[in-house]
Amino acid sequence: MLSLSDVHVNYGHVNALKGISLQVDDGKIVSLLGANGAGKTTTLKMISRLVKPKKGAYEMDGKSMIKEAPSSIVKKGVIHCPENRRVFPLFSVEENLIIGAYNKRNKSVKQEMEKVFSYFPILKDRLKQKAGTLSGGEQQMLAIGRALMGKPNILLLDEPSLGLAPKIVNEIFSIIKEINKSGTSILIVEQNAYKAIEISDYSYVLENGTIALQGTSEELKNNDEVRRLYLGG
Ligand SMILES: Nc1ncnc2c1ncn2[C@@H]1O[C@H](COP(=O)(O)OP(=O)(O)OP(=O)(O)O)[C@@H](O)[C@H]1O
Ligand SMILES: [Mg+2]
Repeated sequence: MLSLSDVHVNYGHVNALKGISLQVDDGKIVSLLGANGAGKTTTLKMISRLVKPKKGAYEMDGKSMIKEAPSSIVKKGVIHCPENRRVFPLFSVEENLIIGAYNKRNKSVKQEMEKVFSYFPILKDRLKQKAGTLSGGEQQMLAIGRALMGKPNILLLDEPSLGLAPKIVNEIFSIIKEINKSGTSILIVEQNAYKAIEISDYSYVLENGTIALQGTSEELKNNDEVRRLYLGG
């Protein structure tokens, strides 16, 4: 179980997070929703220890992570799939996947790669192709596949649906559900609130660096404010 409590993050004079608390229970899908600039990416970066909190608590299974290095967060199985896909464009699909397993022993790499192909068969067909020449949807699949190569206990996904056609978005969301069913907890950042709420057990809505609303999917779908602001009425 991962938990944040009263976390504050500043970038110089910008207070990006102003005391947020959230929890990702084992085996669950939790979504983090909100408008541009609300602090969603900052929250994931804080969890990966890419930005330092000014104040607050961060625990995994009851142990404080606040002083851990990014590499030890990865070793604990928290794997970050960043915003805008960020695959290595000049490396092949295969090389990108191997990079995702850098913290693992060689012998499991082939096995993990086969698991990735079971979710994303297209990546097997494109194995030797340079990642920069893949379509947007394929690059997103590769970015998720690369994160899976690190054998996540908790997968942090930053806007996996951004800029993709509805058909691909549906495909990616249903694979996210499958990944979760195989035992990986997921914290997903999305602007596509409707889709995210559909697959999540619990959601948080960030506004201006604070948690404005939270609840189960049922609660949020029935909340007038959420419907008006995020679900199109
Ligand atoms: N490196 C930085 N330096 C200064 N300000 C930053 C930095 N990164 C983010 N910010 C600011 O912090 C706030 C939160 O940014 P963040 O990227 O977390 O938002 P977000 O919710 O992910 O937005 P989006 O939906 O557009 O990706 C914004 O006001 C942003 O301008
Ligand atoms: Mg963001």
